[in-house]
Amino acid sequence: MCQNHGVAYIKPGVVEVQSIEYPKLALGDRKCEHGVILQIVSTNICGSDQHMVRGRTTAPAGLVLGHEITGLVIEAGRDVEFIKVGDLVSVPFNIACGRCRNCKVGQTGICLNVNPARPGAAYGYVDMGGWVGGQAEYVMVPYADFNLLKFPDKDQAMAKIRDLTLLSDIFPTGYHGAVTAGVGPGSIVYVAGAGPVGLACAASCHLLGAAVVIVGDMIPERLEQARSFGCETVDLRKDVALSEQIAAIVGVPEVDCAVDCVGFEARGHGSEAGTEHPATVLNAVMTVTRAGGAIGIPGLYVTGDPGAKDDAAKEGSLSIRIGLGWAKSHSFYTGQCPVMKYHRQLMNAILYDKIQIAKAVNVEVITLDKAPQGYQDFDKGAAKKFVIDPHGMIPN
Ligand SMILES: NC(=O)c1ccc[n+]([C@@H]2O[C@H](COP(=O)([O-])OP(=O)(O)OC[C@H]3O[C@@H](n4cnc5c(N)ncnc54)[C@H](O)[C@@H]3O)[C@@H](O)[C@H]2O)c1
Ligand SMILES: [Zn+2]
Ligand SMILES: [Zn+2]
Repeated sequence: MCQNHGVAYIKPGVVEVQSIEYPKLALGDRKCEHGVILQIVSTNICGSDQHMVRGRTTAPAGLVLGHEITGLVIEAGRDVEFIKVGDLVSVPFNIACGRCRNCKVGQTGICLNVNPARPGAAYGYVDMGGWVGGQAEYVMVPYADFNLLKFPDKDQAMAKIRDLTLLSDIFPTGYHGAVTAGVGPGSIVYVAGAGPVGLACAASCHLLGAAVVIVGDMIPERLEQARSFGCETVDLRKDVALSEQIAAIVGVPEVDCAVDCVGFEARGHGSEAGTEHPATVLNAVMTVTRAGGAIGIPGLYVTGDPGAKDDAAKEGSLSIRIGLGWAKSHSFYTGQCPVMKYHRQLMNAILYDKIQIAKAVNVEVITLDKAPQGYQDFDKGAAKKFVIDPHGMIPN
């Protein structure tokens, strides 16, 4: 019997590397002959995991975490036709059947067949269908022919694995935020949040031809990281309105497009930066986006937040100034990023050196036993994207 180890959520603030079951081609009673078993080559820690680990969701103790997975196929189910043992593949964090009406139109983030509780599923995530997470040595990936992106050349892929590992989530997610905000050549963009998703979004805005990308956060190291690849920054600890800080950069107090890469754990601006104001970013982006502009919202908002300050927020009701957005005819785009819509194109952008995404988000590779430390450092606001290398396969 093969061994497996994975990162499990224990209680708020605590994760542990545990011995876990070796994956089967099944989820409970549900047979997954359409699935494969992967030996995991790289698996990243995400801000989305942090919401659970901070105790801000209803995640149960013992949940094996990890939805950002890249791996080597070591076993394929009876019904897998095109993916082969030995393929090196990127796994979209969304689990999708490829057969339902949403999958058929590319809306793989809200697949109807992979989660009995609601549309949409992911590995190792609360309310996302119970699929086992991949911050581990091995994992099962269902509907493998549909979900997996095979890298064309394994040696070339291993040489760029620090970049390619970001295709499972944050690079497509940041890019999707930019696309849905209408970013294109010459755009002036505000990106809220300089975590890995915000930084991936800012780099994507450059790839899409934006003229000016302004990134806002309250962590100086993260803002420094944004400046390292050509972004302008605003420090939200300052008691100067965001619109004024934007005017100081581009001459006018507004932008063409804005992207919320923060989500419901947002903190207030200026003197409020120490406390949480879950609707701050949504209201700020409506304030600074020009009339007729679009707003991408990859930042996560939840339907249940046990740690929220008031009863409304506990069930995801926030005080949003929708009248302002309505008056300015804003478009809003929410939800999981449908990774598959973008991952092949973004893989090519990496392989043909059109973007240095690992450098933009400052990838740091760690061993599996260092994962709990990675979670702690990330929670403290390290300007890094932690990538776990469970088998010591990533070259220096
Ligand atoms: N939609 C999707 O498919 C998808 C995929 C991946 C991640 N996410 C979500 O994207 C968000 C960002 O992920 P991450 O990994 O970068 O997380 P992160 O926690 O590392 O980054 C969030 C950043 O926002 C900053 N921040 C807090 N309040 C702010 C404010 N008012 N204005 C500007 N910045 C503020 C924080 O200081 C932090 O640096 C999370 O909510 C995550 O769950 C969504
Ligand atoms: Zn993620
Ligand atoms: Zn589906």
